[in-house]
Amino acid sequence: MSLLEDLSWRYATKKMNGARVPADKLAYILEAARLAPSSSGLQPYKVLVISDPALLAKIREVAYNQSQITDCSHLLVFAAWDGYSEARITRVFNYILDERGLPHHTMDDYKQTILKLYEPLGTDWQAHHAAKQSYIAFALAIAAAAEQRVDATPIEGFDNAQLDALLQLLGSGYRSTVLLPLGYRQEDGDWLVNMKKVRTPLADFVTELTLADVAAPEKQPVAAK
Ligand SMILES: Cc1cc2nc3c(=O)[nH]c(=O)nc-3n(C[C@H](O)[C@H](O)[C@H](O)COP(=O)(O)O)c2cc1C
Repeated sequence: MSLLEDLSWRYATKKMNGARVPADKLAYILEAARLAPSSSGLQPYKVLVISDPALLAKIREVAYNQSQITDCSHLLVFAAWDGYSEARITRVFNYILDERGLPHHTMDDYKQTILKLYEPLGTDWQAHHAAKQSYIAFALAIAAAAEQRVDATPIEGFDNAQLDALLQLLGSGYRSTVLLPLGYRQEDGDWLVNMKKVRTPLADFVTELTLADVAAPEKQPVAAK
């Protein structure tokens, strides 16, 4: 199977059947998320794995009653740093340097460069930047799940503040960003299962550019091509 076949197979499953995802498949999906690239390698996010039915029922209450939350096998909650700080960045960089057998001062200049860049932008910008990084891991988890023929529903339809309170993330330095229930489709009762997958036509999605396209101000804006 190719990646494109896997991505064509997957869809945002609306109805799951409660069957359990085997531990090796779950581990594979989490490993794909862990291997995601991130800005400066900071990996400013983590994944919470929840399969306790009682907790899932509580989460469903703050997720617009979406049934996949309780009918899944495991719910992945992606959570990202609520801001950048010298201490956090130092901890990650020192870990990387230790793993590579390099002295801690090796990345000092780079650390100061990103701190100078990030600090004036404020914690809202920083939390948003960290959240964007978590979506890269989220996307890889979606692709890995498809490869394993595990269904997954990307879910942003939940109340972040209420979920953070429920999971006691407040004060932990993390905030929830996005959810990914993993499980298996229940074809009867899922209105989306046999629908055509529709995406922006390639010709609209991809625009090739040359310098001539961007250098002449009198030309039509590139986005309108
Ligand atoms: C970030 C994000 C958030 C989404 N939130 C929800 C959601 O809360 N509930 C849901 O049923 N689908 C949700 N979806 C699924 C999208 O509606 C779906 O991916 C899109 O319509 C494309 O369809 P497909 O994934 O079946 O190919 C979300 C998708 C993404 C990427």
